[in-house]
Amino acid sequence: MCGIVGISARRDVVAHLISGLKALEYRGYDSAGVAVLADGRIERLRTQGKVQALEALHAGSGVAGHCGIAHTRWATHGVPSEGNAHPHVSGPVSVVHNGIIENHAALRAELQAAGYVFTSQTDSEVIAHLVARALDGQPDLLAAVRSVLPRLHGAYSIAVMSTDEPGVLVGARLGSPLVAGLGSDENYLASDIHALLPLTRRFIYLAEGDVARVDAEGVAIWDEGGAPVERAVRESQFSTDAVERGEYRHYMLKEIHEQPQALADTLEGRIAGGRVLTQILGVDAEDLLARTEAVHIVACGTSYHAGLVARYWIESLAGIPCTAEIASEYRYRNPVVRPGTLFVSISQSGETADTLAALKLARERGYLAQLAVCNVPESSIVRESSLVLMTRAGPEIGVASTKAFTTQLAALALFALAFARAKGLDEQRYLDGVRQLEQLPGLVAETLRLDAGIQDLAGDFADKQHALFLGRGTHWPVAMEGALKLKEISYIHAEAYAAGELKHGPLALVDAQMPVIAVAPNDTLIDKLLSNLEEVRTRGGVLYVFADHDIGSRVDDSRTLVMPACGEIAAPIVSTVPLQLLSYHVAVLRGTDVDQPRNLAKSVTVE
Ligand code: AGP
Repeated sequence: MCGIVGISARRDVVAHLISGLKALEYRGYDSAGVAVLADGRIERLRTQGKVQALEALHAGSGVAGHCGIAHTRWATHGVPSEGNAHPHVSGPVSVVHNGIIENHAALRAELQAAGYVFTSQTDSEVIAHLVARALDGQPDLLAAVRSVLPRLHGAYSIAVMSTDEPGVLVGARLGSPLVAGLGSDENYLASDIHALLPLTRRFIYLAEGDVARVDAEGVAIWDEGGAPVERAVRESQFSTDAVERGEYRHYMLKEIHEQPQALADTLEGRIAGGRVLTQILGVDAEDLLARTEAVHIVACGTSYHAGLVARYWIESLAGIPCTAEIASEYRYRNPVVRPGTLFVSISQSGETADTLAALKLARERGYLAQLAVCNVPESSIVRESSLVLMTRAGPEIGVASTKAFTTQLAALALFALAFARAKGLDEQRYLDGVRQLEQLPGLVAETLRLDAGIQDLAGDFADKQHALFLGRGTHWPVAMEGALKLKEISYIHAEAYAAGELKHGPLALVDAQMPVIAVAPNDTLIDKLLSNLEEVRTRGGVLYVFADHDIGSRVDDSRTLVMPACGEIAAPIVSTVPLQLLSYHVAVLRGTDVDQPRNLAKSVTVE
């Protein structure tokens, strides 16, 4: 989604603004722009396409200034084009905006009637004109921005500057994240900390409704009610190495290979003496788990798939009812919440608009508590939840989620086992589950050694238009995740089915042009899955099977790759890895933009 960078300094900042945009490229965007204040003028450069093009534009332009704002745009209102790229300008004012102004049409009509001329199709341009109008007659940028905010319905984070107050940036947020960065003789605003990591490690995360005034000397913040507030300064532990690609051709490949370490990090300090520490959810967790009689999991995309796997674990291990559903549906239906229900949100970014809205709804619905399983400390979802279980995947830059998913599963497995034990899970099964988690980093490292074989198989897919993914039990959501990966980065149409559903319709699609990919764990459903695969084979379907070591010999196909033997907890996590590699290699062969697939954004901060 859109990205914001703002810098107020005593040196030329254009190159730093553009570097900040580069660090935000992973969020997904279609155009970019920068504006600086120079000798009482606004100098602006904008382009459709990549930040690299903006950099080239800057190289020959001579544009320079000590205070500026920059933006990567992911189109919502108005096509991707230079004219719709931010910053938007009105008189002395320039603005960058993330989010959606839902009442933009009414505001546009009002402003046009007052003589303001619009040069873009965006919802964001209304902010520039509103601030310019508010400045007319009272030359205080902070006051002007604050007077405009109540008129904006929807979600926003903004950075605003004016030629009348050189060196001053005003930022504000509601429903969309914004951080202030603290430097030496310079200070910053950004939509996420990655944009600023080369400049500072010290950040203030603005709270909902906050307004910030930033100049080279300092940062001042006011809360939603207009009262001055001191927000905590956080020191980021992320190193710039963590967001660099290193020797890898793509971030996605790097992140796939980081999984053994990311899983080890996620488990570290949470298992002792072969048992999950119940305090992983905080000191009161034992009492809370004892009182929990049902679980509602809500998430989007890949995180939703992690929730679906967890649903199988929680019901089978703890014997407690669990549902998992898509946040964009949950937030608009009227969920019935029985007493004793725990709400669980899952999100890599912690900023997904639908998941955040679902959490806000859940807070009003009488749940026992709201648990966030999240990868980004200080994110909105973390801050608004009563309990937190952090994944420790580290920064995930590739739009296609990989290590975030497997670490979510590891965290959810920790939760499911601790919860199930509190509900009376058999000691042997519990200890075996914990042992499987301890073995996970090694099992995933071993599975990564299949890479060359998977690369060979990928050639079969490069010219295909469609693919089917099959799985049963916890491996059905794993198949869904495999299909999502393939479609999002290779643009091949892919669907996942619970293998038992095949003969109820999708079998009609099977022919030599429809590769069928199956994940075959060594579990209680394996005989049924093998029968389903036979149904495909006898109809001339071409099967690709990722099989557990102990059943590999039962899958009679040359396109079978054998994975390490795994138990019920480790298996869905381990089986995910070859599907990630397959999608990756197919996408590379098809020449798509692996890390920033078309039309997609990393952090979906609008509805
Ligand atoms: C998957 O590869 C995507 N990146 C997407 O489905 C993602 O999982 C979804 O947008 C939810 O994001 P979140 O985990 O940050 O909430």
